[in-house]
Amino acid sequence: EWAERGAAKIVKEVVNPETGVTARHVIKKGIKDFKFGEVLGDGSYSTVMLARSIDSGKKYAVKVLNKEYLIRQKKVKYVNIEKNTLQRLNDGRGIIKLYFTFQDEASLYFLLEYAPNGDFLSVIKKYGSLNQDCSVYYSAQILDAIDYLHQKGVIHRDIKPENILLDKDMKVKLTDFGTAKLVEKDETTQTYNLLERSKSFVGTAEYVSPELLNDNYVDYKCDIWAFGCILFQMIAGKPPFKATNEYLTFQKVMKVQYAFTAGFPLIIRDLIKQILVKNPEQRLDTLQVKKHHFFKDTNFHDGSVWDTDPPEIAPYKI
Ligand code: ADE
Repeated sequence: EWAERGAAKIVKEVVNPETGVTARHVIKKGIKDFKFGEVLGDGSYSTVMLARSIDSGKKYAVKVLNKEYLIRQKKVKYVNIEKNTLQRLNDGRGIIKLYFTFQDEASLYFLLEYAPNGDFLSVIKKYGSLNQDCSVYYSAQILDAIDYLHQKGVIHRDIKPENILLDKDMKVKLTDFGTAKLVEKDETTQTYNLLERSKSFVGTAEYVSPELLNDNYVDYKCDIWAFGCILFQMIAGKPPFKATNEYLTFQKVMKVQYAFTAGFPLIIRDLIKQILVKNPEQRLDTLQVKKHHFFKDTNFHDGSVWDTDPPEIAPYKI
């Protein structure tokens, strides 16, 4: 449900210490409560801008979607998917937070957590590649975030370096859930079951899995495939499947045709070989990836993946 025009409801509960009575104050936030700044990024049907709360001075990233365009392009469904998904994932450390949504005559607005260190693609491009310490640090967070969203019954389906943002502490924040698939929970078994075949969606060429190209079969494993491509890119500086156009890229993906660059670390080769596997059933899952020797010094159970300071960024050298 979209909040009333131009407003998002924020309910503040205040307990009177003498009477014990809880008073609910409804504070309506709207577009007038924010000052808009520079453009942070452009999506296919949205623009993200910096926004500052006039009250608190807190910075947000506001995603603005033009309603008329959404309707004309039949994208309304995806906007609702994004909103529902972000709400389902709102307690995850590696996921961008959604604070408010509101709308006016022309647009829908998502008030998102602002990630001041930009996206992961820019980091890889700036340094050319990342050394093994950096690759462990960033890939552990990406993997843990993917594991979290899978546990919540969400498949992202378009994980790529542009959709991985970095907060002020250089911690990973996954974003852009407009292409996500929400899997409904089976109430009797309390598990998320994936039965259907979903049509017509393909992610970004370089990170798309063969099964998505083949028969549009949606599975959690497509996010692991993308993870493998990104891990490869950290070391090599470029994704494993890349050609002059999308069609040729798709062909390479279908044939799993890639080659490690000279000096590519053996331990990461071993892991990637078990991820870039055509058959999703034979591909490692998040838990198996976490157990690989590449993560032997990473503890995924004590929060240290998220609490450790980032290593100094440096490129990979043979
Ligand atoms: N670009 C797109 N979304 C962003 C966000 N939440 N923070 C910073 N830059 C962004």
